[in-house]
This record gives sequence, structure tokens and C-alpha cells, in this order.
Amino acid sequence: MIDLVVLTGAGVSAESGLATFRDAGGLWEGQRPEDVATPQAFARDPDLVHRFYNARRAAAGEATPNAAHSALAALQDRLGERMLLVTQNVDGLHEAAGHRGVIHMHGALNRATCGACGHRWAAPAVMETDDPCPSCGAPATRPDIVWFGEMPQEMERIYKALDAAHVFAAIGTSGLVYPAAGFVDVAASAGVLCHEINLAPGGNPTFHQLFSGPATQAVPSWCADVEALLG
Ligand code: APR
Repeated sequence: MIDLVVLTGAGVSAESGLATFRDAGGLWEGQRPEDVATPQAFARDPDLVHRFYNARRAAAGEATPNAAHSALAALQDRLGERMLLVTQNVDGLHEAAGHRGVIHMHGALNRATCGACGHRWAAPAVMETDDPCPSCGAPATRPDIVWFGEMPQEMERIYKALDAAHVFAAIGTSGLVYPAAGFVDVAASAGVLCHEINLAPGGNPTFHQLFSGPATQAVPSWCADVEALLG
């Protein structure tokens, strides 16, 4: 029985040195999403898209989990199956902190997939346009990332959990990209208590409580509060 659903965004990895998307100096400042994060962009210029994700894969490989990732993993150690973590992030920092069973709704940099047969495997550090699929051999390999216009992963499981939970928390996300941005509405309409943990209020009045501050400070303290709340 899931009592707690946590959604994380780029803000939870910011203090590990990974750029967010929409803050100053963010990824979408240097690159337009329509040029590197859509199926059309990949069809138009696969080399550019691979370069973008190869650079992000390298940066993620250098990064280490921060106190927010560790606090969430420790909370899972205590709550077990009562807690589900869904991340919009494609880095592996939750897993590196010891978190198990993370749902990567936007995919993961350390996974590759084949556009021809759908096979998934561990991505090499550097992916190139004509890499053959290890399963069917087609030169149709791509990062296992959910691009704009594509369906995020595990949505049915996420909505079921949102309906059943007692608490929903969105951590370090601007709440601008759907369907993740709508999770708070689904949760609130099911009578779930909704918490936002962010540097600054995201402005969505549906959240019942804001825990503000940098994730490495606000998340550990929120984990203690929510554990007491759930009992
Ligand atoms: N601690 C807590 N929150 C932080 C910190 C920090 N140290 N630094 C930044 N934030 C917050 C910002 O206030 C902002 O609300 O993290 C959020 C980052 O927002 P975005 O850059 O929009 O990242 P995210 O919400 O994860 O984007 C969602 O958009 O482009 C797509 O697929 C991409 O998964 C991504 C999705």
C-alpha cells in the first residue's frame, strides 16, 4: 500500500552540479528543446542530439548524490513499499544514493533503446548515429530518453499510486511540463495532502504546504516531518 508518492525534478540534482533546465544558465538557455529533445530533432540531426546527450551523460557520470538524494533513500529504507519515487530526471543520482525501484518517467541517460525493435540496454558513454542495435542490428539506436511529444513511462502505475497515497510531494520541479505538472491536481482531487519542496514557491496554489530552501537542507528536514506524519 503506497502512502507516499514523491516526484523529483532537476532541482534535486542542482547541488550535485547538474544544470537544471529553466534556471539561469540552465540547459534550455544554451540549447532549444526543439533542436535536441524531440523525435523530429533526432530525425533532422541525430549527431547534434547524440552530442547533447553524450555531454549530459558525461556530466551525470561525474556527479555524486547530495544530501537530498541520500535523505530520500534513507526514508525509503524506513518506509519500504509504502513509498514510491518518480523522477523526471534522467541522471542516476537517486540510485547512486541507494534508492531502489525509481520510476524514470522521462527515461535515463544510462539506458539506450532501438527505434526499430524497442530493445533496451545499458547505454555506452558515447552514443553515435550509426551504432547498430545489439539485438536487431539496425542502425536505429537512440538515448532511452522520453522526448517532448512522446509518452512518459509508467504513467498507469503513477496515477494508481497518486490515487491511493496519503501524501504527494513535488521536489525541485518548476511544474511546467505535463503530465508531471498535473500530478498535484490528480493527488489533491483524490484528497491527498500535497507538499512542495523548492527554492521558491512554484505558484501552484493546489499545494497545501511549501517547504522552501535548497534541496540539501529542505529535503532532509521534510523527510523527518513526513515520516512523523505517516507514522
Ligand atoms: N533546491 C531545490 N530546488 C531547486 C534548486 C535547489 N538547489 N535549484 C533549482 N531548484 C528548482 C527551481 O526553483 C525550479 O523550480 O528546481 C526547479 C527546476 O525547474 P526546471 O529547470 O524546469 O526543471 P524540471 O522541473 O525538472 O523540468 C521538468 O522539463 O525540459 C523538461 O524533460 C525536462 O524533466 C524536465 C522537465
